[in-house]
Amino acid sequence: MINSNIDIQHRKVQLENLKSEGIVVGVFEGEKLEHPDLLALDELFDHGISTLIERNEIRGQAKEFHILHSLKSSFNKIIVLGLGKRKSFAKDSIRNFVAKGARTARKIAQKEVSILMSTFEEEAEVLGVIAAESLVMGLDRFETFKSKKKSDRDILETVVFLSNLDEKSFSAGLVKGQALGEGNVLARDIANHPGNYMTPTILAQRAKEVADHLGMGCEIMDEPELIEKGFAGITAVSQGSDENCKMIKLTYRGNPDSNEIDLGIVGKGLTFDAGGISIKPAASMHLMKFDMCGGAGVIGSAYIIGKLKPKVNVNIYVPSSENLLGAKAYKPGDVLKMYNGVTVEILNTDAEGRLILADAICMAVEDGVKKIVNTATLTGAVLGALGHVRTGLFCKNDELTDLVKAASNECDEKVWQLPLDDEYKVILGSTCADIANSGTRMAGASTAAIFLHEFCGDVPFCHLDIAGTAWVENLPTQYSFKPYLPKDGASGTVARTLALVAEKLQS
Ligand code: BES
Ligand code: MN
Ligand code: ZN
Repeated sequence: MINSNIDIQHRKVQLENLKSEGIVVGVFEGEKLEHPDLLALDELFDHGISTLIERNEIRGQAKEFHILHSLKSSFNKIIVLGLGKRKSFAKDSIRNFVAKGARTARKIAQKEVSILMSTFEEEAEVLGVIAAESLVMGLDRFETFKSKKKSDRDILETVVFLSNLDEKSFSAGLVKGQALGEGNVLARDIANHPGNYMTPTILAQRAKEVADHLGMGCEIMDEPELIEKGFAGITAVSQGSDENCKMIKLTYRGNPDSNEIDLGIVGKGLTFDAGGISIKPAASMHLMKFDMCGGAGVIGSAYIIGKLKPKVNVNIYVPSSENLLGAKAYKPGDVLKMYNGVTVEILNTDAEGRLILADAICMAVEDGVKKIVNTATLTGAVLGALGHVRTGLFCKNDELTDLVKAASNECDEKVWQLPLDDEYKVILGSTCADIANSGTRMAGASTAAIFLHEFCGDVPFCHLDIAGTAWVENLPTQYSFKPYLPKDGASGTVARTLALVAEKLQS
């Protein structure tokens, strides 16, 4: 499964008794050492930190780091990280601090590292969550297909967080944070597997492993069954591929006293998107191995939910297919009669995500879920609007919008709401069917979301378009490196947000 392989501990700050290969501390830009723990540490280290601050060699700027050595202290090194200016410091900066500290200790071949957390003002449990999740996320690396793996040489085993906060709350936070981190890393791992190693069949297997491991239900519908039942979207998209499509459904019952399914989570699991007959240009086509990041994200959220066990009932759906150009491929001009009776004219076979999602949404509605949150690498248009910084949020229900925004804020997977006005719907007009699957270039992220709304009936529905946030590329135009995210590859985004949505719905 996923095993972060690191022993994560919390200990009270007792610097005199501390034995450690190295201790990580943060200093703010333009400030002298003030916190008693930092002063005590400085004292034990022959005033090394304060002297270097005075000499202006340690400035505390963001991204700055120094390794100070001592031959006589009970801890051999201090890793000093710049925290930037206090006024621009935020919760997410703590994630970067922890990840950078742990990565540095790993890089310089420490077996163990202590990280001083007492300089941060968050309450104990929140800080514990942040500490563990950023540690797990920050130490993750995807090397499955590298013959020489850096991880073979890693020796980091133990990370000890030092704080004076309540022991029990901080440790409870660590357990929760570890689950959140592992769910994120699981989502990354699934998403980083390229199309030849991550077919719909393999994706379904991975989902089943998660379900079995955590005692959840798992149903997988195969292509023939989907055809027979009239799921016209996913089966049309799959026609051009020799791989069988799958509809993956996981069921979590944290509140067995209730028959209600409080939440349905849907994620696009398009394992490779060539565009179909409306083929994509070659230049960046390989990146469409990431078109299952929504599916990977929701499986990651299932993992977290299964670990945290909130008292709530959740169904998770991943429609999974390839979008290729085989001889039987669906074609521009084709008309599909969807599961709920709506007819769709295909104007562009590259607008396939909304078709496979429509079937999963119909299934969730038929199962009687009370709310739906959908996520997908759905449109290039959302990239145009929001770039790589924020996920596009589309929702007509204010209560559900607030809920998803609250979850997103808690884990700093940032979203931005975009419009769904009825006026946009004309863009999807069709002369021969009820609706077309694509329109003009105008408002492309909104029209995709409006298309999905044709299938959710009266169920409150929220869609998250992660086309810009699902993976990181090491490009000057995109790159603003966060140490707890990968330098390149899937970000695992929305796994944490969606699990927190489920947690907030518990009774
Ligand atoms: N998977 C793509 C969207 C995408 C594009 C994700 C770039 C990440 C980066 C989706 O299936 C797609 O091709 N959408 C089309 C829709 C259009 C044909 C209406 C798009 O955005 O161009
Ligand atoms: Mn496409
Ligand atoms: Zn796609």
